[in-house]
Amino acid sequence: MSTPEILTEREEGVLRVRIHRPDKKNALTLAMYAALTATLNEATEDATVRAVVLTGGGDSFSSGNDIADFLATPPTGEDSPVLRFLTALRQFEKPLVAAVNGLAVGIGVTMLLHCDLVYARTGATLTMPFVNLGLCPEGGSSLLLPRRLGYPRAAELLLLGEPFSAEQALEWGLINGIGVDADATLALAMDRARRLAQQPAAAVRLAKLLLKRNETEILRETITLEGRYFIELLHSPEAVAALRAFVERRRT
Ligand code: COA
Repeated sequence: MSTPEILTEREEGVLRVRIHRPDKKNALTLAMYAALTATLNEATEDATVRAVVLTGGGDSFSSGNDIADFLATPPTGEDSPVLRFLTALRQFEKPLVAAVNGLAVGIGVTMLLHCDLVYARTGATLTMPFVNLGLCPEGGSSLLLPRRLGYPRAAELLLLGEPFSAEQALEWGLINGIGVDADATLALAMDRARRLAQQPAAAVRLAKLLLKRNETEILRETITLEGRYFIELLHSPEAVAALRAFVERRRT
């Protein structure tokens, strides 16, 4: 499935995937999740794709799930486009590099936890305001963040939904590097992706599998459980009020 909001470009062995809905800060719709999933699955099948770079169009990486979609067509289970996308991302065997060209919210942040290398632009802000919206962490973030950052910091980011900067993310070891602007960030990511594309493919694939092996099963279980709670919470009065407030531009 393709959509004009997911753009792909090939440069030798690197597939560049751009989330491009700049007027909505690259908020992700059902069609966009489906297109991203198809793109990852096609990249898996295509032996000439040796690495994938994920970036955003305009001034944002992604403002997360489209909030109007949450109200109109909420996910219902494992077969929902968002959960299919998370599965494709979790299972993706080739190197995945992110160039975070601007703000990242919600799944715009949690998808980074599944990338092998992440670069972000100076000044980019990242937030996971799930609880603030009456929701719960998703995308494996309730497992991966405490593992990577320690519990206290993960609790600040997930329970309080505190924003953090690219610089903080680098200091915490959550990302690999910072670019002075969006172009420099993409250039950094592309440079690393080209290098990865030149590495022996089978060795890269098995090395990535080994690096992730100790969390494969628990990550699958966690994403399923998070998905179940998230779907339940989407129907709670608090979440419905918070999401409606955004859509109607009211403050709660
Ligand atoms: N879903 C749907 N539309 C979104 C969106 C989202 N997640 N994020 C931004 N948009 C839309 C806005 O409604 C606005 O549309 P409009 O021009 O038709 O009114 C447009 O994108 C620009 O957003 P705006 O809020 O005016 O930009 P900003 O720079 O002031 O703020 C954000 C940017 C991302 C901080 C703010 O839009 C925001 O908080 N979005 C929601 C993020 C979120 O909670 N995501 C879900 C997490 S689970």
